[in-house]
Amino acid sequence: MRILNDKKILSVLRCPICGSEMSICQNGGASMVCGGPRTHCFDLSSSGYVNLCAPKQSGGGDSKQAVRARSEFLDMEYYRPVADALCDTVNEYCDKGSVVLDAGCGEGYYSLFPARNGFSVLGADLSKFAVEAASKRASRESLENTFFTTASVFELPVNDSSVGAIINIFAPCAEPEFSRAMKDDGLLIVAWAGERHLMGLKQTIYNTAHINSERADLPKSMEVLHERRVSYTIDVDSNESIMSLFAMTPYYWRTSQTDGEKLKDLSSLTTEVDIIISVYRNNKSN
Ligand SMILES: C[S@@+](CC[C@H](N)C(=O)[O-])C[C@H]1O[C@@H](n2cnc3c(N)ncnc32)[C@H](O)[C@@H]1O
Ligand SMILES: [Zn+2]
Repeated sequence: MRILNDKKILSVLRCPICGSEMSICQNGGASMVCGGPRTHCFDLSSSGYVNLCAPKQSGGGDSKQAVRARSEFLDMEYYRPVADALCDTVNEYCDKGSVVLDAGCGEGYYSLFPARNGFSVLGADLSKFAVEAASKRASRESLENTFFTTASVFELPVNDSSVGAIINIFAPCAEPEFSRAMKDDGLLIVAWAGERHLMGLKQTIYNTAHINSERADLPKSMEVLHERRVSYTIDVDSNESIMSLFAMTPYYWRTSQTDGEKLKDLSSLTTEVDIIISVYRNNKSN
């Protein structure tokens, strides 16, 4: 069974009910307890993740089907240049002595890149299917410097000013909560879709394909330190992969059945990948 061995990660966690510090139970590590007066107890799942959602928050996030589709697509490494650029950014800007939190980590594809480079990585996602997949992914590589929890990015089970950096990749960006959780000079790295991201896919589905507008929830009070764009073209060469790509996009839910069926018999698709990686500094002391 996978247990939490990384003391740095343990030290940033807090009880989602009373806010007290957490420790590992002396029962082989199968559960965690808080140090509060009521000793709240949280069992680890068989795959080694823990549910630290705030009591009113449990449930939600991506479905099992969405998680499976994204895992299948990401495992084909079409987004590898994005992951490499993100990892280079973490290496360049972040300190290995502090925890990196992947907020909205999904199935941990991106979380594991900094972990392979020696960073302690805590992943949080609302979807239990996603964190289960992330935990299994980390176990396959015996990455003990990782841990995954179900939690909302809007109510993270971590102490104030505790994590050195937050990575936030195609997931909701919760600036005030991130600012609370990060060290005073902590770094937030947000990956988001540029204007032409997946234009080829959109042109196949829609009669008129619009460019993407800037996402509305980017941080407003933090200082931008750096921005880089990762743009390239991919040839997705099977219908299965095209459908997996479609299923992991927001268009999957917004597209009419008639438009969605335009992908049904497609065996190859050329489309742009256009991602912006923005690095922000918390500046809480200002
Ligand atoms: C598009 S996926 C991206 C996942 C991962 N970062 C990646 O790029 O592979 C968005 C993720 O955000 C999660 N999510 C949505 N709302 C959330 C919330 N309020 N708190 C935490 N995770 C959330 C979903 O469950 C899903 O896994
Ligand atoms: Zn507690």
